[in-house]
Amino acid sequence: MKNIQSIRGMHDVLPTQTHKWQQLESVLRQLAMQYTYAEIRTPVLELTELFKRSIGDVTDIVEKEMYCFLDRNEDSLSLRPEGTASVVRSGIQHGLFYNQVQRLWYLGNMYRHERPQKGRYREFSQFGVEAYGIASADIEAEQLIMLDDLWQRLGLTGLKLQINSLGSSAEREIYKNDLVAYYQQHLNKLDADSKRRLTTNPLRILDSKNPRMHALNKNAPVILDFLGEKSQQHFKQLQSLLDAQQIEYQVNPHLVRGLDYYSATVFEWITDQLGAQGTVCAGGRYDGLLPQLGAKPQAAFGFAIGLNRIIALLDDADKFAPPQAIDVAVLAIEQRYLAAVFKVATVLRRAGLIVHTHCGGGSLRNQLRKVVKMNTKYCLICDQQTIEAQQTAQAVVNLKDIAANTQRQADVSQVIEIVKQTKG
Ligand code: HAM
Repeated sequence: MKNIQSIRGMHDVLPTQTHKWQQLESVLRQLAMQYTYAEIRTPVLELTELFKRSIGDVTDIVEKEMYCFLDRNEDSLSLRPEGTASVVRSGIQHGLFYNQVQRLWYLGNMYRHERPQKGRYREFSQFGVEAYGIASADIEAEQLIMLDDLWQRLGLTGLKLQINSLGSSAEREIYKNDLVAYYQQHLNKLDADSKRRLTTNPLRILDSKNPRMHALNKNAPVILDFLGEKSQQHFKQLQSLLDAQQIEYQVNPHLVRGLDYYSATVFEWITDQLGAQGTVCAGGRYDGLLPQLGAKPQAAFGFAIGLNRIIALLDDADKFAPPQAIDVAVLAIEQRYLAAVFKVATVLRRAGLIVHTHCGGGSLRNQLRKVVKMNTKYCLICDQQTIEAQQTAQAVVNLKDIAANTQRQADVSQVIEIVKQTKG
């Protein structure tokens, strides 16, 4: 019988790799906490309708990438392809947006049925941040400063920030008409995908990856020329706040996003170190989404980072610390001293040490051989003397320094001192 494999584009994180995820996640949690964002957790399954109404019916995600199915009640459900829609749904449901500012973050797996390749998976992890109730550019600056801070904390270099403004919906409508008129003059040069988008989602043509479209897109009208006074001021204020923090950015008037809910400021952080999948973080303003989902209008701004891509960058740059080493392995010279092994191990663990107990029997020689392979600094061997002590802290063990290949007798409280000293 053939062994069952994981689903294409969905990957296990094996035990030799999990420490990297833990290290990254702990930096992210600390960052969010220091910027006073609170964690929100939402289900991975939602009604399909939620994503259709928020991300947009004619986006790639909703048209062809969602994992949708009918459940036993014949309800159409979808695995979440992103986190923003769920956070908004949850906030409306629980009244979080009612006359309140909210700063929220989430971390979790998202699902998109895309063609898998390096950096693009069908199950991937995002760290997302969303702020509600602040319409001004300062919240945008706060989040971009937070991201710049994050790259520094992680030691990541070479990430480039691109920003753009998609204006208000009224400004975008006028721009769209101009854009469509421009492409209609060059209909014979459009590829099939762009022709389709001309009627469904013309802004997305600008984002085409087809080299044939590049020259045409380069000369297309740009949204920035269509911004009114208010939108221009807003975008300028963001830029001056970034300038004051010496955060470098490039205004890319062709930056449009693959999700329909954006307006005004949008941005992406891009690297050239990951081939075609170079966007590591993306986001923007989406004030229109709340009313679209039936709530009162409310300002909203956020982003999501693709963690699989960040892990790849950090791995390539050798930025991860090795997994935590075991401080002590506790062994029994004979099986009858096993109870002493567990007692001693418990005292050591309560003192904060990382302690491995050998299980499964075998000769002391074999046990030692296995312990050496585990990169353990010290090994304790329990024997008759260990069980003779009145209290476990006084129990005498044989303490072996594996690297130095020396052995001495010590009681458990001395062991704690010695091991803690070498831990630093
Ligand atoms: P997005 O651009 O669809 O935006 O995704 C954000 C990031 O998730 C991407 O820049 C990329 O790093 C990562 N990502 C997306 N798809 C994949 C994939 N198939 N495999 C690996 N990584 C992937 C959003 O999801 C919005 N919700 C961001 C946002 C939050 N906007 C406002 N708030």
